[in-house]
Amino acid sequence: MKTQVAIIGAGPAGLLLGHLLRAEGIDAVVVERASPDYVLGRIRAGVLERTTTDLMDRLGLGARMQAEGLPHDGFHLADGERLIRIDIAALTGRQVMVYGQTEITRDLMAAAPERGLEVIYDAADVALHDVDRDAPWLSFTKDGSEHRIDAAFICGCDGFHGPSRKAIPASVATAYEKIYPFGWLGILADVPPCNHELIYANHERGFALASMRSETRSRYYIQVPLDEKIEEWPDDRLWDELAVRLGPEAAAHITRGPAIEKSIAPLRSFVFEPMRHGRLFLAGDSAHIVPPTGAKGLNLAASDVHYLSEALSAFFQRNDNDAVARYSGRALARIWKSERFSWQLTKLMHRFPDSDAFDRRMQVADLDYIASSVAAQTTIAENYVGLPL
Ligand code: FAD
Ligand code: DHB
Repeated sequence: MKTQVAIIGAGPAGLLLGHLLRAEGIDAVVVERASPDYVLGRIRAGVLERTTTDLMDRLGLGARMQAEGLPHDGFHLADGERLIRIDIAALTGRQVMVYGQTEITRDLMAAAPERGLEVIYDAADVALHDVDRDAPWLSFTKDGSEHRIDAAFICGCDGFHGPSRKAIPASVATAYEKIYPFGWLGILADVPPCNHELIYANHERGFALASMRSETRSRYYIQVPLDEKIEEWPDDRLWDELAVRLGPEAAAHITRGPAIEKSIAPLRSFVFEPMRHGRLFLAGDSAHIVPPTGAKGLNLAASDVHYLSEALSAFFQRNDNDAVARYSGRALARIWKSERFSWQLTKLMHRFPDSDAFDRRMQVADLDYIASSVAAQTTIAENYVGLPL
C-alpha cells in the first residue's frame, strides 16, 4: 500500500492528525495495534482546552462535544480548609470543556470513513524502516499476513511505549525525565459530581481531585504510593478517603456508588528532543509526558498535531522543507511551558514522601498567596485554559 503520511497509533494524536491532513486533501493511513473497543475502553483525560475544542470545531467534528460537553468557567484549589476559586472565564475570557477522551476518540473514529481516513486496527509487530531516507515505510502483520505501507512521512503517535521514539538513534536525541514517588488512583462511577466545578485538593494525607464526565458520571482521583495495590482500595475505603481529603464542604455533597472503572497511573514528566528525525515525526505522548495535574496531556497532543499538520501541508503544497524542519522547535516551545505548569501544580498540590515541615509551610504559603492575589490566579488560569498556539 502507498500513502502520503503513515500514522502509527489511533489515540487522540493519531486520529486528530489524520483528520487534519484529510481536511487539507493529504492522504493518510493510521495503523493501530489494539482494537477499537480497547482504545475506547481506556479512561483517561477529561478536560479540554479551548485550543483543542477549536480544532474539533474547525474540522466540523465538534457538534456532539458542544451539545454534550460541559463548559466550565472555573475550578478550585482546596488547601484543607477552604476552596480557592480560579475564575478562568473572568481572568482569561475563555472556558475549558469537560468532555472525556473516550468521547473525543469515538467522534474522531466515527467520522474517519466519511472523511476518507483509513484506520487499520489490530495491527501487530508494527516496525519502522528507512526513516532517515526519502522513502520510509512501515511493516506490520494482520490476520496472519505481512503488510507494507510506503509513505513520504511517518508520524509516530503511538504513545509513551510505542516503537516510534525508539526508532530515533540515542546519539541524535536527548530525553529529560522526572519520576514522581506516587501515582493517582482513579475511580469512575455513575453518580452526580460533588461539585459543579473541579476541585484539586492538597490535604495532609495527600492530593485528591474531584472531576466528572457528565452531570451523572463522576471521576475522582487520590494520590497513592507507587507500590499501592488496587485490591487494597475497595470502593468504601476510597469514598471515605476522598471525603477526608476533599474537605467537609465537598464531602457533604459526595454521592457514593459502585466503581465502573478503577486504576492506578504513575506520574512522570518526560520530554524527548528533537521530535523529528529525517522523515519521522513524533507527536503526543510518544514524545512527552506530563503528570496529570493540570490536565495538559491530551491537549498537548492536540497542539502538536496542529503544528505537524501545518508543516506537512506546507510540504505537500509548496515543497516547503523549512516548515518540516521547524516543527520540532515550534511544538517544543509550547510543550516545555505545559511541562512547567504541570510540574509546578504537581509540586504545589501533592505530599512528597521526603518533604519536611518547611516544605509543607511553603505549600501553605503558596496557596495562601494564590488565594489573595489576582495576579497569581491569572497566571494559573491562563495556563489551565491553554497557552496560545
Ligand atoms: P495515546 O492515547 O497513548 O495513544 C497511542 C496509541 O498508539 C494507542 O491507541 C496505542 O494502542 C497505540 N500504539 C501503541 N503502540 C503501538 C504499536 N506498537 N503499534 C501500533 N499502535 C500502537 N490529558 C489531558 O489533556 N487532560 C486530562 O484531564 C488528562 N487526564 C489524564 C488522566 C489519566 C489517569 C491519564 C493516565 C492521562 C491523562 N491525560 C490527560 C493524558 C492523556 O490521556 C494523554 O496525554 C493522551 O492520551 C495522549 O494521546 P496520544 O494519542 O499521544 O497517546
Ligand atoms: C481529569 C484528569 C486530570 O488530570 C485533571 O487535571 C482534571 C480532570 C479527569 O480525568 O477528569
